[in-house]
Amino acid sequence: MALLPIITLPDPRLRKVSQLVERVDAEILQLLDDMLETMYEAPGVGLAAIQVAVARRIVVVDIGKTEEERSPLFLINPEVVWASEELSSYNEGCLSVPDYFDDVKRPARVRVRHLDRAGEMQEFDAEGLLATVVQHELEHLEGGLFIDNLSRLKRERVVKKFAKAARMDEIVAQRRAQAAPQSEEAEA
Ligand code: NI
Repeated sequence: MALLPIITLPDPRLRKVSQLVERVDAEILQLLDDMLETMYEAPGVGLAAIQVAVARRIVVVDIGKTEEERSPLFLINPEVVWASEELSSYNEGCLSVPDYFDDVKRPARVRVRHLDRAGEMQEFDAEGLLATVVQHELEHLEGGLFIDNLSRLKRERVVKKFAKAARMDEIVAQRRAQAAPQSEEAEA
C-alpha cells in the first residue's frame, strides 16, 4: 500500500466529473487500498478518488473513531437511489479544503447503490454522520465541493483565501528556484 498525495483547493482537477469504473480489476483494488491508507493517515472519514487526482467514481468511507471501530466501506460507481425529505445539518470539513469547517444541510437518510470489491451490486441505508459523509463524497464525483452548498459570500471568501495561499506558495517556490543554482555553484 502507498500513501497518495491529496490535492487541495484551488486545484482545478477537483472540479472534474469522475468517470464510471467499467471493470473492478487489480488496479482498482490497489487504488481502493491506497486511498483507504491515505484517508486513515490524513486523518479523514471519507475520500473520493478525485481527491488523489484520479477521476474515477470511487469512494472510501470509514466513520469509526478508533482503530478498533474501523469498518471501511469501498464504494465503486456509488449513487444515491433514495433520499429522505427530512434534512440534517453537520459541521463539515474536507481534506481538499483543509482547516475550514461549516454547516451543511443534506438529506438525513439515504439509500446508496454501488459495486463492491468483487464487482457485485450492493445497497445500504445510511443515516446520521454516515449519510452526510457518503453524500459529501458523492458530490466530489460530480466535481462538487461542500463549500458549494454555502452562501455565495462565504464560498467566495473561502475560494479567495485558498487562491491567495496558493499564490504565496508559488512565490516562495520561485524564490527558492532562483536561489538554488547559486547554492549549487557554491557547493560544486
Ligand atoms: Ni471532501
